[in-house]
Amino acid sequence: MAALKEKRTCGQRCQDFGRFVWNPDDQTFMGRTPEKWVYISLYYVAFYVVMTALFILAIYVLMYTLSPYSPDYQDRLTSPGVMVWPDAYGEEGVEIFFNTSDKKSWSKMSNCLTHFLQPYNDSMQNQNSHTCTQGKYFIQTHFSGPHHTKWACPFTQSMLGNCSGIEDPTFGYADGKPCVIIKMNRIINFCPGNQTLGPYVNCTVLEGSDNVRGMEYFPTNGTIDLSYFPYYGKLAQPTYINPLVAVKFDMVKNRKVKIQCRVVADNIAHQNFYDPYEGKVEFCLTVSS
Ligand SMILES: *[C@@H]1O[C@H](CO)[C@@H](O)[C@H](O)[C@H]1NC(C)=O
Ligand SMILES: *[C@@H]1O[C@H](CO)[C@@H](O)[C@H](O)[C@H]1NC(C)=O
Ligand SMILES: *[C@@H]1O[C@H](CO)[C@@H](O)[C@H](O)[C@H]1NC(C)=O
Ligand SMILES: *[C@@H]1O[C@H](CO)[C@@H](O)[C@H](O)[C@H]1NC(C)=O
Ligand SMILES: *[C@@H]1O[C@H](CO)[C@@H](O)[C@H](O)[C@H]1NC(C)=O
Ligand SMILES: *[C@@H]1O[C@H](CO)[C@@H](O)[C@H](O)[C@H]1NC(C)=O
Repeated sequence: MAALKEKRTCGQRCQDFGRFVWNPDDQTFMGRTPEKWVYISLYYVAFYVVMTALFILAIYVLMYTLSPYSPDYQDRLTSPGVMVWPDAYGEEGVEIFFNTSDKKSWSKMSNCLTHFLQPYNDSMQNQNSHTCTQGKYFIQTHFSGPHHTKWACPFTQSMLGNCSGIEDPTFGYADGKPCVIIKMNRIINFCPGNQTLGPYVNCTVLEGSDNVRGMEYFPTNGTIDLSYFPYYGKLAQPTYINPLVAVKFDMVKNRKVKIQCRVVADNIAHQNFYDPYEGKVEFCLTVSS
């Protein structure tokens, strides 16, 4: 203690420091002999080499066990969401309204559908897909498609019949019988129901049922064929395309209706309070003239 309290000059301090760096008496450098320094350096080098090797090994094992074909972490997604096109969002969700005597207002809707259906072009779909057996799941355990992929079933625009936009490029918007397209989001490895009953779309009028004279589904009965399931992911099925259902409404003019379209199947929930788009979609439709 006495030594610490002793007043020391700057020169003495520098000298002390010099002795610390190189002490000729004990032959130590910074408190250790050069030999010890070599050992300690070797120790740290070995330590970091081992740590790095462990880290690389851990990452490698993780990458090796991760399958690139499916997400390892699937959040919640047990039941698919449903969407409607034209996706004309208003204040209360999707609001499809147009005036048959105002070409600008309805061509906005029909252009939206034309654009949406571009990937469903018949020649394109028939080019790079597989012929599928309708009415049953298309289970593929092997990658038998080109470039180590799985096949996907074609869904062509013409399957939407009078809502395909082929005979009537206005999709019924010009004459007040508009088509909407219902799409169910894809979920990897999801099978919607049992082998006998494929999912189908059922639309009901929630408000203003007197103003809808009729509904027509394309494909027939609004059925979504089982051969589009299960979906194996983007990497495994690069040519996969969502199956669609189109619904054509015969509307009374100048009346607003609220419609709910639901995809009905055993494994598709539709009563999730927190997710109004799970298994169903609601929209308002108004045709004026
Ligand atoms: C599909 O694409 C081809 C070439 O782009 C085009 O000629 C044809 O009209 C399209 N078919 C439909 C139904 O849009
Ligand atoms: C398609 O529309 C035509 C003409 O409007 C009609 O005659 C035919 O029955 C419709 N097809 C179906 C499947 O509804
Ligand atoms: C499939 O589901 C339908 C409707 O839920 C049911 O009536 C039918 O018995 C089921 N079939 C089988 C094989 O489970
Ligand atoms: C469609 O839904 C309505 C209302 O939930 C129901 O009354 C009707 O039976 C359903 N139609 C079919 C074909 O499931
Ligand atoms: C549509 O549904 C009706 C009645 O349920 C049935 O008789 C008919 O075979 C179905 N059509 C198709 C193509 O599934
Ligand atoms: C629809 O458009 C016509 C012509 O532009 C117009 O006379 C009519 O008032 C419009 N109808 C509505 C409900 O806005």
